[in-house]
Amino acid sequence: MRLERNATTQPRRPMRVFNNPDVLVCAWYVACRSEQLRSGAALSCDVGLQRLVVFRGESGRVHALDAYCPHLGADLGLGRVRGETIACSFHGWAYDGSGVCVDAPCGGSAPRRARLRAYDTEERYGLVWVYPEGEAPYRVLEVPDLEGQPVRVHRARPEDVPGHHHIHHLNGVDVHHLPFVHRFKVDLHEIGCLNTRSSERPDLLDTTTRVPATAGLMGRFMTWFAGTPLEVLTRFSDATSASVTLLHGARLFGGRFASPGLHYLIGYTPLPNGDTRLYITYLTRRRSGPLGALADGFLLRLTRFVLGHFRREDRELLAGIRVRPYSLTPADRPCIDFIEYANGLPISDWSRAVLPDETTSQVAPAQASATTNA
Ligand code: FES
Ligand SMILES: [Fe+2]
Repeated sequence: MRLERNATTQPRRPMRVFNNPDVLVCAWYVACRSEQLRSGAALSCDVGLQRLVVFRGESGRVHALDAYCPHLGADLGLGRVRGETIACSFHGWAYDGSGVCVDAPCGGSAPRRARLRAYDTEERYGLVWVYPEGEAPYRVLEVPDLEGQPVRVHRARPEDVPGHHHIHHLNGVDVHHLPFVHRFKVDLHEIGCLNTRSSERPDLLDTTTRVPATAGLMGRFMTWFAGTPLEVLTRFSDATSASVTLLHGARLFGGRFASPGLHYLIGYTPLPNGDTRLYITYLTRRRSGPLGALADGFLLRLTRFVLGHFRREDRELLAGIRVRPYSLTPADRPCIDFIEYANGLPISDWSRAVLPDETTSQVAPAQASATTNA
């Protein structure tokens, strides 16, 4: 059971989706790492309060089903993979990748109701992703600048972090914490943040942040190194996974070279206790030859170093935060946009049933939106 602090004096009225641990939207979630699922292996895993069995058939394909066997409820994560089916370890009933019971050894024929919900899966970046429906309307998010290109990746170790993944994403659009937490010597009014939605892909929110020249030695170095304003491009998918490109579109060393961009991709598993498992993948375009491999390695390490620096500075605040977004100001427009975007997403059947009057989608105050429709 989750206990609520300051429940009487600072009650937290849950929103429809944003920061609501009882609600899972239709989105790609990380089930596990690919290396945890060798050929013929099965694993039970939790995405929020939804327990799934994921298994790799002998063809190498990964399947995901609801975990509890329809017969007497055993967890199929303990079962055995045979071909493209998972056989329950309790009485041997076997289910194929679409959730149909294809064998009931000790019961004659299996009742027609003995069927499991099956879910879409994809393997990308060395991770197994699952979607709360049989067929996802789009595939797992890619870095926009690297779409369709061969990439070299480095995966950070998964990390359990406190709180809802929306709070971690909100930190990325909350540009006004930069001077206070990250000590950017910059005029707050000069930081630009523009959110863009696309009518073709309602799951996406693109955020472009522009930071002008900052004062001090570091500011002068960055102006020489990458020019100004510094641009960060973030693409959220279903307010769940996100791709981030630092030094987007910059010209390096006084404008001599185009920046390759520093890219990373974030995936999440909501945990049953309301916390989050975080998967960070660093990516760069794969360059050929030994020198190309060296350059790739350098860029991946640099990306990890920069992100690690900011995450260290954010960590203490994020660990103790409890967001009640009802006192925001017009200057918080990027945060309001993100919250409204999250609250408008379709809710999946992996959510705990929530009565409509328990929740709200409203963020006060209502102000003109900075969001544009592309
Ligand atoms: S509980 Fe699975 S076969 Fe009986
Ligand atoms: Fe931060």
